[in-house]
Amino acid sequence: MNKKVEQSLVFKRGGALPYLTDEDRFLSAVDATEYSFGFIGCGMMGQEHIHNTLLAGRAQIGGLFDPSAKSAGHALGIVERSGKQAQPRVYTSIDEACGDPGTDALVIATPNHTHLDVVRVAAASGKAIFLEKPIATSVTDAYELCQLAESHPQPFRFGLQYRYKSVYAEAIKEVVERKSVGQVHSVNMLEHRFPFLDKVGQWNKFSANTGGTLVEKCCHYFDLMNLFADSLPSRVFAIGNQAVNFKSFSHDNRKADGLDQAQVTIQYRNGVIGGFSLCMFSPGTREELIVCGDAGRLHASESALLGSANENRLELWQGENGASDVRSPKYPGYIEQAGHHGSTFFEHLSFIEQLSGGSPAGPTLADGFWSVVAGAAAQLSIERGEAVDVAEVLPDKFNPERFH
Ligand SMILES: NC(=O)c1ccc[n+]([C@@H]2O[C@H](COP(=O)([O-])OP(=O)(O)OC[C@H]3O[C@@H](n4cnc5c(N)ncnc54)[C@H](O)[C@@H]3O)[C@@H](O)[C@H]2O)c1
Repeated sequence: MNKKVEQSLVFKRGGALPYLTDEDRFLSAVDATEYSFGFIGCGMMGQEHIHNTLLAGRAQIGGLFDPSAKSAGHALGIVERSGKQAQPRVYTSIDEACGDPGTDALVIATPNHTHLDVVRVAAASGKAIFLEKPIATSVTDAYELCQLAESHPQPFRFGLQYRYKSVYAEAIKEVVERKSVGQVHSVNMLEHRFPFLDKVGQWNKFSANTGGTLVEKCCHYFDLMNLFADSLPSRVFAIGNQAVNFKSFSHDNRKADGLDQAQVTIQYRNGVIGGFSLCMFSPGTREELIVCGDAGRLHASESALLGSANENRLELWQGENGASDVRSPKYPGYIEQAGHHGSTFFEHLSFIEQLSGGSPAGPTLADGFWSVVAGAAAQLSIERGEAVDVAEVLPDKFNPERFH
């Protein structure tokens, strides 16, 4: 999707050139919105989606629902401060949100363990659906969810937006489109970051709500690894524990039980080997992707010390096969600042494109499913202290012809 510079949002933002009349506006003219979205769950991620929806300017915030008055109030504040539209409806239940004839799509950003129940209601509305990752907390629930999504009459998308981070989007171009490293044989990823943030009701401190850290957090990385390996995981070995974080934390008399470090080894069906390292007690974030092929090597990274700006780096070694290169992919600042280094914005645009009849580029239902499968197999491997055949975690009635 190529956009002309004269259509750039930068000319339309924040009441640009306020002394102009509407007749004098061309670059700064704001187009009418095409869609209306309802938001279910308006905490950190719901608010990020609202912000990006307003920034992109192609959909209105039609209404929102959140049982927390504080979350709903903050979400309304974002809409009000944008000055872009009238205040949305505030629904009093999920049923009311799903039944609003004024909205075209529902954006669901509730805690992981609520996804399936919310989707069961939302799917009956027939509206397009965007559901945050991880799609569910267990493989069985993920499978049921994918079946609902598969038979849904409108676009149904999952929130695996790391594919749209600038470093990974460039890495996909190099490895998948240009074949710059040749035939891929290994994919390694690393996420070293700060502890899980505070959440509404602290749901993310408990594996029963998250599906386990390797499902909750790491589904993003398993999705990318599956993509670069161009295969599905067949065997997984992992070690990990709760080494540092939240040892003294309890909520409603329950102690936090999430892993905060892990090493995961994945054998892919096509022979590619994968490795993933997690550390969640680091004073900053560092993500790395290393893809080695028979003709080259690619290393992509994002790093930010807590409180400092993020730095992106992409290094491509092609030896005698072509130009080696080091670069710093980035998006415009106002897009990067809109959340997750700009990836949420491009994910939103991709969803809008699909609503407008465009091709559904982006993570598929199968991608959402297998990102949970890899995480669940790794969690099981840690529990057992031995390698796990992925077939073991697949649901009894799993049809291998679907979602592969
Ligand atoms: N894609 C990403 O990078 C990314 C990043 C962070 C979170 N997430 C995902 O987004 C989802 C929400 O996480 P968050 O960080 O916004 O959590 P949060 O705690 O900040 O917000 C969750 C909100 O959902 C509300 N809620 C709870 N149950 C609800 C229900 N049944 N119906 C409607 N609202 C309900 C809560 O009151 C809260 O306001 C989770 O699935 C999480 O894994 C994705």
